[in-house]
Amino acid sequence: MCGIFGCIVGDGRAAPILVRGLKMLEYRGYDSAGIATIDGGKILVKKDVGKIDEIEERLLMSELPGKIGIAHTRWATHGAPNAVNAHPHLDMHSRIAVVHNGIIENYLELKRELMELRYNFVSKTDTEVVAHLISHSFSKHGDLLAATVEALRRVRGSYSLAIISTASPDRIILARRESPLIVGLGDGAVFAASDVSAFLERTNRVVYLEDGEVGVLTLNGLTIYKLDNMEGVSRKPVTLNWSIEAAHKAGFPHFTLKEIYDQPLTVREALRIQEQYADLIVEFLDRGREVFLLGAGTSYHACLAASYMFSKLARLVTYPVVASEFVENFGNAVGIDTVILAVSQSGETIDTLNALEYARLRAATVLGLTNVVGSTLTRISRAYILQNTGPEIGVAATKTFTAQLTVLAQLALRLARKRGKVSQSEIDRFKDDLHNLPQLVSETIKSVEPEVKSLSDVLSQAKVLVFLGRGLGYVTSLEARLKVMELSYIPSIALPAGESKHGPISIVEEDRNVVFTIPRDETRKLAINNVMEMKARGAKVTIVGEDGDSEVAELADHFVGVPKVNYLLSPIVYVIPYQLLAYYLALRRGLDPDKPRNLAKSVTVL
Ligand code: F6R
Repeated sequence: MCGIFGCIVGDGRAAPILVRGLKMLEYRGYDSAGIATIDGGKILVKKDVGKIDEIEERLLMSELPGKIGIAHTRWATHGAPNAVNAHPHLDMHSRIAVVHNGIIENYLELKRELMELRYNFVSKTDTEVVAHLISHSFSKHGDLLAATVEALRRVRGSYSLAIISTASPDRIILARRESPLIVGLGDGAVFAASDVSAFLERTNRVVYLEDGEVGVLTLNGLTIYKLDNMEGVSRKPVTLNWSIEAAHKAGFPHFTLKEIYDQPLTVREALRIQEQYADLIVEFLDRGREVFLLGAGTSYHACLAASYMFSKLARLVTYPVVASEFVENFGNAVGIDTVILAVSQSGETIDTLNALEYARLRAATVLGLTNVVGSTLTRISRAYILQNTGPEIGVAATKTFTAQLTVLAQLALRLARKRGKVSQSEIDRFKDDLHNLPQLVSETIKSVEPEVKSLSDVLSQAKVLVFLGRGLGYVTSLEARLKVMELSYIPSIALPAGESKHGPISIVEEDRNVVFTIPRDETRKLAINNVMEMKARGAKVTIVGEDGDSEVAELADHFVGVPKVNYLLSPIVYVIPYQLLAYYLALRRGLDPDKPRNLAKSVTVL
């Protein structure tokens, strides 16, 4: 999730406004940044790796001349964070500059094609493909808008783009597909950015670009077209009465809620994994004598879910292990044939890194799944794969969890295919189910929120909460417990439902709140037995189950229904009511859901 920004000013220079806008967007991503302006018929660029203030101090970006410019703050997805990969990217003739937020899915195919046409690539980014592709069309048309449209019709993936050219130095061409892009109309100046915070200090009159639209922004205003057929679109500006803080949260009261709502998009981005790296990881997983899946907290829960996916779909037995226990438990058994897939959103969790360092010294193969390119995990892994979630600001992991699961499910599918363990029809069905996930996630968020809000009233005074489930329902229960406990501070336990009768059932008494996760799968019948055990002891039972599962719903004091989903993908959907429950419980108890006490986003102490 990078941040893009562009502006045209009537009087004065664009560069200081761009640098200020970048500062306001820095929270969206911050490994490198840059700006490009047009002056004297030339594109001028300054960009580097690091924080905006550091780059500004080193390069004095704000001193670039010119009334028009574009800017970018980067959260790397393709190519390491360094000066060459930083945006803006130029075409070979330095007449077109591009900034981009999103992922170009077919960039390798396009890159190969352009290289055959002797286009020279200097960076490892997917964005540079767009610059060359537009340049290629521009050589034919001589018109920047027509060239952009022709180029974008060949591009698959997500993007918000701002493009300037020496050929039309009075305009910024904009385009949007699945990544946000908002135009600001000020007095004597116009702006376009990934979010309004970039320009809110200057104007609150905005126009939102929609998916599949391109725009031409000049000092006279914005003209919008549909990319498909170049039909004109008329849209009136709206006035936002937001503070900068509200703008950062896109109007949501907290980052945690915004990030829960981001999930349809972040799950979609997680479906855009880089195939060559996924294949490499699958190759290593398949070769290991034993495979450990390592993570801490929520990332450990992703590992646990992956172990079910790998065994059920690909018939590969893996060992999910809490990172801080790995060396003590398995250290002596680690050797050259050991493969470890470490899952860490930040890529910096010291418990995980310590275990990996130990394993590396014993020649084990270390693989990584992370959200942060350039993190220690990416540096020490033999191969790594990115989840493409962008920064998560709420301390509790929400969107990064569902994205991790989405990537792991794709690895499980590839592994199954490689090992010849699934039929073509199963592969096709699973692919369809993956494809439908963003839609299911979106439906779930909308449909469960009212129910969960009233549930939070009921549960907010509970002294203790018990979460139970079987199979992947158990994994979801573990993550539910963690979310609820860390945001609401209500002491909670989570167990496989079958385990409760081996001891923990002794804490169940009249009105004790017990929360079950029961997808409609093979474990459902036994889970129903466990519900009966709890009810017999007077527990108040809440069940998160499948919409329309009336047999289960009738057993519950409170029932939250979610849409039907493939069992192996169920935690991605079933966790959503719990994320919302944790959020609303925190509010009911007067707590700040974004900053739970005693916790840090990245845990770098042992
Ligand atoms: C819980 C949470 C933590 C992290 C854990 C690992 O909401 O955020 O449990 O999951 O600290 O962090 P990463 O994934 O960065 O290794």
